[in-house]
Amino acid sequence: MDSLEDPVAADGEVLVDIAYASVNPLDVWIGQGSPGMAGANLPWIPGSEASGHVDGQPVIVRGGGLGFSRQGLFRDRASVPSDSVLQLPSGVDLRQVAGLAVVGITAWQALHACGSVQPDDRVVVLGASGGVGSVAVQLAKAAGATVWGQTGSDANAAVITGDGADHVVVSGAEGLATRLADFAPTLVLDPLGGAYTDAVVTSLSNRGRLVVYGTSENEQVTFNMRQMYRKAVSIFGYSGILGSPSDERQVLSMLLAMMADGALHIRLGDVLPLEEAGEAFSRILQRRAGGKLLLDPNA
Ligand SMILES: NC(=O)c1ccc[n+]([C@@H]2O[C@H](COP(=O)([O-])OP(=O)(O)OC[C@H]3O[C@@H](n4cnc5c(N)ncnc54)[C@H](OP(=O)(O)O)[C@@H]3O)[C@@H](O)[C@H]2O)c1
Repeated sequence: MDSLEDPVAADGEVLVDIAYASVNPLDVWIGQGSPGMAGANLPWIPGSEASGHVDGQPVIVRGGGLGFSRQGLFRDRASVPSDSVLQLPSGVDLRQVAGLAVVGITAWQALHACGSVQPDDRVVVLGASGGVGSVAVQLAKAAGATVWGQTGSDANAAVITGDGADHVVVSGAEGLATRLADFAPTLVLDPLGGAYTDAVVTSLSNRGRLVVYGTSENEQVTFNMRQMYRKAVSIFGYSGILGSPSDERQVLSMLLAMMADGALHIRLGDVLPLEEAGEAFSRILQRRAGGKLLLDPNA
């Protein structure tokens, strides 16, 4: 880890004292070279969302290309675009809100903007033990839908039930279509790709919707196109990178209000010192994050 000069706020920027920086798979993918601008800006500071203080007032920070097209938030103090800062009421839990924006906005947009979730939907959330999955299960239940969560690990089943899922499917890609056949989902959220996508296209009901927002398993996907069009299945892609800042602010304010009402929580994993960012990346890659991982630059 390097020591950095204290940042200076340029026009249109503010200085944020970071309390907790959240670690996302995107930080890992950017560190591996794609997507983002890390390679052209070495040495690179990852981190696209954090909680902290501006002039002593609690805030969260996200967007503005932070940790993607410009240096990020894995540091104790950062100069950031003013419009990437959202003020919070005092007394808010800075750990809970640090990891809310990326997973919360993704889950909301996947379910509502892309998936048009309705109370009579039968929703399958793949990767339901993960950061996005946990929030997606909670939001789909809040929308009144019947929700099944998928995990590859028996050990993760209880946390998915704890988030409110009606049923947990413990299965890899093989056998998944059979396990979902009776449920016949009307809406599937897919962060995995690979053979998982093939399985869910097979199990989707007539006029089902598939929302894809990640390919943690494999970006190369093969599925039966005839099966897809004969069932009139619709496939939507969600990309946070292309999100509209004003839409996202609106969604974030709504999610913060749900959190304040106790209607939404972020399932936290460990809080690690900044020096252990590499350990956090390894845990994400090895599927042992155990909840949203945070870095504490002041530890
Ligand atoms: N499009 C966007 O804007 C956007 C925004 C946020 C996230 N994402 C993407 O969405 C995905 C999920 O993000 P997240 O924050 O929820 O990640 P996460 O917290 O690491 O959770 C993902 C879950 O998926 C399962 N999983 C991971 N790798 C897998 C593999 N190779 N095969 C099968 N299952 C696997 C794991 O569950 P089990 O171990 O319990 O099976 C893991 O808990 C990532 O690919 C991320 O890059 C995209």
